[in-house]
Amino acid sequence: MSKVRIYNLARDLGVDNGKMLEILDGLGVSYKSVSSTIEDDTVDLIKQILEEEAAGGPAQAPTSTPAAEPVQASAPQAQAETQAQAASQSAPTATVERMPEPAPTASPARELPHRAPVVTIMGHVDHGKTSLLDYIRKTKVAAKEAGGITQHVGAFEARTSKGRVVFIDTPGHEAFTTIRARGANVADIAIIVIAADDSLMPQTREAIAHAQAAKVPMIVAINKIDLPQADPERVKTDLTSLNLVPEEYGGDLIVVPVSARTGEGVEDLLEYISLTAELEDLRADPGGEFRGVVIESRVDRQAGVLATVMVQEGTLHVGDFLVVGEGYGKIKALTDTNGGRIKDAGPSTPVQVLGFSENPSSGETVRSAKNEHQAREVVAGRVGDRRDAEEARGRRRLSLEEMMGP
Ligand code: GTP
Ligand code: MG
Repeated sequence: MSKVRIYNLARDLGVDNGKMLEILDGLGVSYKSVSSTIEDDTVDLIKQILEEEAAGGPAQAPTSTPAAEPVQASAPQAQAETQAQAASQSAPTATVERMPEPAPTASPARELPHRAPVVTIMGHVDHGKTSLLDYIRKTKVAAKEAGGITQHVGAFEARTSKGRVVFIDTPGHEAFTTIRARGANVADIAIIVIAADDSLMPQTREAIAHAQAAKVPMIVAINKIDLPQADPERVKTDLTSLNLVPEEYGGDLIVVPVSARTGEGVEDLLEYISLTAELEDLRADPGGEFRGVVIESRVDRQAGVLATVMVQEGTLHVGDFLVVGEGYGKIKALTDTNGGRIKDAGPSTPVQVLGFSENPSSGETVRSAKNEHQAREVVAGRVGDRRDAEEARGRRRLSLEEMMGP
């Protein structure tokens, strides 16, 4: 029996993946990702559901289901469920409607608006991370970098044909482990870039480990396939030896061959990003309490502290008070990643904030305060806590020195 991947079926039937997953949920078919395969019987059911919906029939309810046919799910544990479901379909009025929804209060997250995925690009030095982003942004950032090596974590917002995607570039140099770890923590999806002529290298393994530790879904981009010495098959085999089995070898790892030079495969990569994002069902509350993370920060001699903050929840407005580490500030200006001044920034927006009094460290959490008084209080509390901790350490050190004698 032939099998079809969920996203392929969605494409063939002209529906989005979210819709497809909704139908599968309704049918009680389990799946691991949009690249999971489903059986022919399930495909028939889905087609029927869609046809009836299109005909204005009962949504998600095939009335003339071949009810005796159990729905085949690829995962064994789903089979019991689907068979039970199928059994319930034998009554003429039975439908494959979903289980009763829990009370709205039990799942408020479902009600929140979607937000753009934050995608981090990680991998070994020179494997083409920045070039790949450049291609996506149609800009030339790599050419401007000192020595062509990414020195910091840059965040970029790209409008792709699949909607807004936020990319975070990370350096491949071995001195930047913490930056990569941070990139993995801020991201919803990790793209692991592996050069087809070089395969798995130390920082590739490290990037994979960061993504795994952060429980971020991974997509592998095998880059530089335009090179004559490119050997994408070797990369796939090497990945398999790390227990990361590409789809075409029967696993669940999405592997996309690309060339940042020619652009080959880049559209596919974007497609896989949006597929994965859909499955993650990313949502945030633009009206909620603000929370963000410092991506990078520097001090400009004239302007002062310029911090790039990723908005995770809520919305930043010019004039808001923010607290980060032991500093606070009132937002004087917000700049988007294209250099344009903006008045506010919602979830999944990387934004440059002008107005911090002190230079925050990358990875620090940013919170908002109602007013300057509250901001000062929060900072004073943090400073107090730190001093207490330092004093305690100082006392320990002193007593150690006393013990050791002159
Ligand atoms: P770090 O930031 O230093 O870790 O490097 P990176 O991974 O960002 O690599 P970068 O984009 O700077 O590319 C490194 C080199 O590989 C540059 O000379 C690029 O021109 C080249 N390169 C990147 N992608 C491709 C590609 O698809 N094909 C070919 N032939 N060369 C590429
Ligand atoms: Mg780079």
